[in-house]
Amino acid sequence: MSSVVSSQRVLSGMRPTGRLHLGHYHGVLKNWVKLQHEYECFFFVADWHALTTEYENPQNIESSVWEMVIDWLAAGVNPGSATMFIQSKVPEHAELHLLLSMMTPLGWLERVPTYKDQQEKLKEKDLATYGFLGYPLLQSADILMYRAGLVPVGADQVAHVEITREVARRFNHLYGREPGFEEAVEAAIRKMGKKQSKIYLDSRRKYQQDGDESALALAQALVNDQSNITLGDKERLLGDLEGGGKIILPEPQALLTPASKMPGLDGQKMSKSYGNYISLREEPADVDEKIRKMPTDPARVRRTDPGNPDKCPVWQMHEVYSSESTKQWVQEGCRNAGIGCLDCKRPIIEAVQAELEPIRKRAQEHSRNQDLVRSIIAEGCEDAREAARDTLDEVRQAMGLKYRS
Ligand code: TRP
Ligand code: SF4
Repeated sequence: MSSVVSSQRVLSGMRPTGRLHLGHYHGVLKNWVKLQHEYECFFFVADWHALTTEYENPQNIESSVWEMVIDWLAAGVNPGSATMFIQSKVPEHAELHLLLSMMTPLGWLERVPTYKDQQEKLKEKDLATYGFLGYPLLQSADILMYRAGLVPVGADQVAHVEITREVARRFNHLYGREPGFEEAVEAAIRKMGKKQSKIYLDSRRKYQQDGDESALALAQALVNDQSNITLGDKERLLGDLEGGGKIILPEPQALLTPASKMPGLDGQKMSKSYGNYISLREEPADVDEKIRKMPTDPARVRRTDPGNPDKCPVWQMHEVYSSESTKQWVQEGCRNAGIGCLDCKRPIIEAVQAELEPIRKRAQEHSRNQDLVRSIIAEGCEDAREAARDTLDEVRQAMGLKYRS
């Protein structure tokens, strides 16, 4: 909650599913592109997560990883603004997962709703494995590794962020009191100078004795504004304020991504497995054909039959793409048979073509220049490793594994 850097960090991951479609774009990628300008972002390919369910068929993982990364870049995720990496290339995730596994009660994992749900849903796979049970904890390691404050996820993943918070809390409780913590806190308070120290101590008392939240906020702001104490000292003071030890692993918050409004071509959720998608690299002629062939309100058999947009997937696309005046034109024209369905689809075709044109072009450039893609990811992996090593050093030390050689 109260860490100095973490509140600014965003982390999210995606399983490697190969090429992405408009559902991914409107659901996730557009949001990432926006977030990368507002926060320090880490986005990664969760290839180990893919293995938790695809361990019998891992052949496609590698190509899926690269195709997906190309689509991230094509959609506008920018290596200058966000760090992009592949989970298995940052093996520190595995070590943190292992260390966290030592202190995570089994029951917490057994009770994660997706555990039983997914086993039920993916009946054809044997998911009674150690890796599948531990997968939410691997996700916790992914998040805590970067001390991320915000984790953009869909509703199905909120429970995983919740267990991550519990793991962090338990970890800080067990290991957050480094030897000499009190002395270090006192020294840090003195370093703030007489006047500031007094404000700190008064606010701490008001918060700890009277539960005065505004006093807490004041003291937190005071600590964050200090320029003459170290980052480590700031974290100690923030921990001290809330009556705990040092916060080694700050608790993240889920940033719920609203469900995409983008329908599939048949009005169901757009999905690869339903075959109702428009891919981000769809050729213009295919975009045209796919939208022309979209089913419409089944009651509109002839051009002269009035229709009802509420019963038509094309209307759902207008909700995503069209201006108020176009939407009004559809509503009237459909209900009084003033327009034909092809007329109605034309603005959608144009909007999708305009949206996909720059994406397709960037995807083409990147797939022709795989060396560039690989070097973007190699650099991202290096940057991620650097951040990961810092956390892991502290975690090792906190858990008694700091050996002097
Ligand atoms: N489990 C997520 C999914 O299946 C992917 C993921 C792995 C993730 N680690 C993460 C998402 C960390 C957010 C943060 O979609
Ligand atoms: Fe659907 Fe438009 Fe045809 Fe109405 S006019 S049925 S909204 S495609």
